[in-house]
Amino acid sequence: MKKLLLIFGTRPEAIKMAPLIKEFQKHPTEFETCVCVTAQHRQMLDQVLNFFEIIPDYDLNLMRPGQNLFQLTADIITGLKPVLDDFKPDYTFVHGDTTTSMASALASFYAGVKVCHIEAGLRTYNKQAPFPEEINRQITGRLTDIHFTPTPAAKNNLLSEKVAGHIEVSGNTVIDALLFAVDKLKNYSDKEIEMLKNTLDFSKRIILITGHRRENFGDGFVHICEALLEIAADPEVEIVYPVHLNPQVQDPVNRLLKGKSNIRLIKPLAYPAFVRLMNQSCIILTDSGGIQEEAPSLGKPVLVMRETTERPEAVEAGTVKLVGTDKEKIISETKRLLNDKDYYNAMQKTHNPYGDGLAVRRIVETMKK
Ligand code: UD1
Ligand code: UDP
Repeated sequence: MKKLLLIFGTRPEAIKMAPLIKEFQKHPTEFETCVCVTAQHRQMLDQVLNFFEIIPDYDLNLMRPGQNLFQLTADIITGLKPVLDDFKPDYTFVHGDTTTSMASALASFYAGVKVCHIEAGLRTYNKQAPFPEEINRQITGRLTDIHFTPTPAAKNNLLSEKVAGHIEVSGNTVIDALLFAVDKLKNYSDKEIEMLKNTLDFSKRIILITGHRRENFGDGFVHICEALLEIAADPEVEIVYPVHLNPQVQDPVNRLLKGKSNIRLIKPLAYPAFVRLMNQSCIILTDSGGIQEEAPSLGKPVLVMRETTERPEAVEAGTVKLVGTDKEKIISETKRLLNDKDYYNAMQKTHNPYGDGLAVRRIVETMKK
């Protein structure tokens, strides 16, 4: 029997780890599966835990309003010591590139526990973008014993860095989660979904916005908001923006966009309502990593408000385009998608460069060996 400790803390990690937890739990004679949340996020994490019906075994409850990276990193490492001492895992599983991932991998290494890294090998090789995620993911890669990469390109990055350990291309578990949600949505509704049905004007073209990257704080967010104001001048569009709870995002977005016509600022949505809204959107404008992976599977064009991306596959396939936070570029690319049918159709094609929905099965099979 192998003892597994899955550690995560933020919304996207929870979405992408949830299907893996469920899959390990199907094999109770081979694995003792234990879940620890750092709660680097609180409300946005709990939304995911509720939807996937996951009750953590350990909850460090670390989130502080307006937290900083120094304190958060220290709190995660010291908070995990008693958990590692108590459960004594054979393996820990961490996900992606957050401070929770990096600090949990380091704590596991200090405790002499083998680390499995899900969504390994993504790189921009620019240490300022995404900040601090690029370095979080690189450090985690150095500490990892078993790397599960979403794509062959990510595996090649790890090979060229000569990382230690076993590397396997599993596909990205985000597609497993997305397919689960799309299937569940066929016979599912909740308060948020009803609220969206009753408040949004679906006869208009819905433009869905999300944003939270640290490198966009300050001027970046101001330029994004200015661009949205201009796009919203078109009476045929409805901009829907579930605003991330980070005060560095809430402040400029509320100051510049609250109460403006054709712009709906709403709270972060739970995963099913968000997936449904992505499906009903015409264009998605975002700086999110996970949404860049989900949207191609749903056949939605994405304009990415970042200068660079560690997920080049969909950009190469033409369904995702980088626009940075340049106001004019955001406006012109959005208007082109709205007005040029052929251009829109070319960006709309459905494809799955990041996975086929079988990633968690591959990961579990590897762990059985
Ligand atoms: C974090 C991750 C980022 C990931 C993102 C996903 C790091 C350094 N950043 O960024 O990689 O892409 O999550 O969303 O690991 N807050 C709440 N409630 C919540 C969540 C956040 O109030 O449920 C507010 C709090 O004031 C908190 C702040 O947002 O202090 C920032 O949260 P933090 O996790 O530090 O940064 P994110 O920008 O969310
Ligand atoms: N998401 C959600 N509700 C929202 C916005 C996003 O459930 O209001 C989901 C989205 O479908 C994706 C993930 O959250 O799976 C992306 O999280 P985020 O953008 O915060 O982080 P990143 O992927 O950039 O690390």
